[in-house]
Amino acid sequence: MLELYHEWYTKRDYEQLDLFKTMADSFQVQSVLYPGSYVHISPSFFIPSACYVDKDQKANRFFKDIEGLTKEIQKRAAYQGPVCLKYYSQDYTKPIPEPEHSFDLLISQYAGFICQPCKRYLKHGGLLLVNNSHGDAGIAALDEEYQLCGAFNRRDGRYVYSERDLDSYFIPKKQNQDLRAHLLQTGKGVAYTKTAALYLFQLL
Ligand SMILES: C[S@@+](CC[C@H](N)C(=O)[O-])C[C@H]1O[C@@H](n2cnc3c(N)ncnc32)[C@H](O)[C@@H]1O
Repeated sequence: MLELYHEWYTKRDYEQLDLFKTMADSFQVQSVLYPGSYVHISPSFFIPSACYVDKDQKANRFFKDIEGLTKEIQKRAAYQGPVCLKYYSQDYTKPIPEPEHSFDLLISQYAGFICQPCKRYLKHGGLLLVNNSHGDAGIAALDEEYQLCGAFNRRDGRYVYSERDLDSYFIPKKQNQDLRAHLLQTGKGVAYTKTAALYLFQLL
């Protein structure tokens, strides 16, 4: 049942288990929205309520037997109580049937621009965990509603969290007159003087 997950995440040492454990333990995250998740269900091992969104056919098949998948996750869940799992097979830029401002955490990794269209599902005070592979972290940094509150770097195979020198992130190496438009147009992000593997923003 989890073959595709193991193929993409376990074998590639990209489960990110310690990262999601930190999110659950240190930030009291109880619910997560993960648009463009593919089959990356690692958050569910630590966060009781998770909602995944993807339009990929393989992901759709993976999540088809959602009850069976829920039972599999329950075997590995680090928390007491039931696993709550949802999956929407759709484009995340289109509305999803979830209440606005209801999630503790929004994840954006390698799946395009998520922080803007999905912001409305994140609680005020909730957290955005985002990398800059497609420039989404750069977009969040330009959004006054998001406040950078920390950064994760990977050291010796583990994610290390820091809140130090946050002002030194998101300083572009090259000046750009309309950075936001440039980021959205290229979908690649720009080079910054200092970077992190992942950034944590709080929605004000
Ligand atoms: C490279 S994978 C990354 C998967 C996962 N986030 C990770 O870190 O391993 C990108 C995923 O985003 C999905 N995706 C990209 N744009 C999307 C959109 N607009 N709506 C739904 N899914 C999308 C793709 O189908 C694909 O499964």
